[in-house]
Amino acid sequence: MASKIILLPGDGIGPEITAPTLELLDAVGTKFDYEEHLFGGASIDAHGIAMTDETLAACQAADAVLLACVGGPKWDTTDADKPRPEQGLFRMRKGLGLYANLRPVRPFPALYDASPLKREIIEGTDVLIVRELTGGLYFGAKTRTKDTASDLCEYSREEIERIARVAFRAARRKVTSVDKANVLETSRLWREVVAELHAAEFSQVPLENVLVDNAAMQLVSNPADFDVIVTENLFGDILSDEAATLTGSIGMLPSASIGEPGKPGVFEPVHGSAPDIAGQGVANPLAMFLSAAMMLRHGLNLEAEAAAIESAVNRALAEGLRTRDLGGSADTRAATQAVLSNL
Ligand code: NAD
Ligand code: IPM
Ligand code: MN
Repeated sequence: MASKIILLPGDGIGPEITAPTLELLDAVGTKFDYEEHLFGGASIDAHGIAMTDETLAACQAADAVLLACVGGPKWDTTDADKPRPEQGLFRMRKGLGLYANLRPVRPFPALYDASPLKREIIEGTDVLIVRELTGGLYFGAKTRTKDTASDLCEYSREEIERIARVAFRAARRKVTSVDKANVLETSRLWREVVAELHAAEFSQVPLENVLVDNAAMQLVSNPADFDVIVTENLFGDILSDEAATLTGSIGMLPSASIGEPGKPGVFEPVHGSAPDIAGQGVANPLAMFLSAAMMLRHGLNLEAEAAAIESAVNRALAEGLRTRDLGGSADTRAATQAVLSNL
């Protein structure tokens, strides 16, 4: 029986990058049982909520979820009682137990000169950011009065240990644990738990602790030094957008969100719905293509098909494909065609 994939095109450029991704998946020879659902702002418009019970249940029962992006000015509000598209992401992450967000940052050599950073700095960079995805400030209690507001940052030993284990298992050279242990109590617990796990199970893997402000600086001045970075939810969010500059554009970064073995993962680009270019047909679809490749590899065990997509992207870029975000003029259609013709 064909694997069941839930498609969540979402908002903004989401539908524009989802359609070509399905073309690519067809071209690589995979046959899936696709089921599309409204998500984010599109779901708010239709159902008043960013992710319905039905959509969550469908995701839970699927083999994998392919998501584009959500959000946009239409639903932007500072009123806590109004629904927001991003609530769909949180419901999905919690509901599927997606505690590990894997964000590989591996700049394509053809794009070294598309980055605002110098080629010599980028060369040899191959970082995996392991972002904790279901804890921290995102999910702590919130309060709000007219004049004060608070967001609770909470982490348990168990939450830290399981994400650190993902990082140690993925390491090839070393693990860099990023925190703010000179200020935050959650970071001090983080550092302690990571050290204990390291001593007990992974003492052969070099471990270093780096404060997040310093890590942000090192990531763009000495990125090739990193191997696996493991960090809490908000730090991982910020550092991964920063790391996108190494690849030439945020439109290049894929991600995989995973939970317990055997449960469906969610595969999605790191970027958002890009409201400034939505509807123009000029979005870079490559982060979405590479997310589909991560789905094939990590979610569905289709290594050859995943590698075929990645190599077609690589060849298209080597031939000169550049969308506008990469300083070129190719639109979404042309980018798709360039990748398809290299498959
Ligand atoms: P964004 O990532 O949407 O856009 C930032 C900049 O990068 C914009 O100039 C945009 O045009 C450009 N960009 C992003 N993806 C691109 C692509 N594929 N091709 C070409 N250019 C691209 O971030 P933002 O503007 O801060 O957020 C917009 C909305 O997206 C917000 O509502 C935010 O909450 C949401 N968002 C959603 C996700 C997600 O769905 N996982 C992630 C990030 C932001
Ligand atoms: C991401 C996004 C989300 C996050 C937003 C849209 C809630 O930035 O997936 O990186 O902060 O997790
Ligand atoms: Mn983000």
